Amino acid sequence: MRDPAIGEILVQGDELNRRVSQLGTQITADYADRSPVVLVGVLKGALFFLADLMRRLDVPCEVDFMAVASYGSATQSSGVVRILKDLDAVIEDRHVLVVEDIVDSGLTLQYLLRNLRARGPASLEVCALLTKPARSKVELEPRYVGFEIPNRFVVGYGLDHEERHRNLPFVATLRQPEPGGGSGADW
Ligand code: IMP
Repeated sequence: MRDPAIGEILVQGDELNRRVSQLGTQITADYADRSPVVLVGVLKGALFFLADLMRRLDVPCEVDFMAVASYGSATQSSGVVRILKDLDAVIEDRHVLVVEDIVDSGLTLQYLLRNLRARGPASLEVCALLTKPARSKVELEPRYVGFEIPNRFVVGYGLDHEERHRNLPFVATLRQPEPGGGSGADW
């Protein structure tokens, strides 16, 4: 049975597959003379996207992870970011591709890029599965974007709300619970 907390499906599983495959082809071509590439997955949301994308790359690549926490409310980041887990690898003179689940205001990514750039990588680009252009607060255009979505709070394919719903094989909006226990309007 479908969870009543899940609203409209914005990106179906087969669309995710197709787009990740396209991104893999594009990144493979772009990094033909810039390998090995170090994929930096931002935990935990980029988990499935990173795993699927990496299997579509036909260039030498490595993987590493960072975990960050953004101070702010449950659905709004402040731009003040704390590193919970740093990279194992040294990225000086390496080609780095940051793999993000979603760029909302862009504040988290802006902080992350500033931090990584200071380590002197040979190149630094971003591949984001989703962006919400209407919410952008910073001048920051990821080099690779899976899908632009409207200003809605979404879950699935790695994205969570309070750690739930990451396992959904599609991206869907979340329905705001009503005080009476019913499922209300979409966020
Ligand atoms: P930003 O700093 O506003 O760009 O927020 C980025 C982070 O907030 C993402 O990496 C997610 O962890 C989280 N986030 C933003 N929007 C959503 C959403 O719609 N669903 C789930 N997480 C989100």
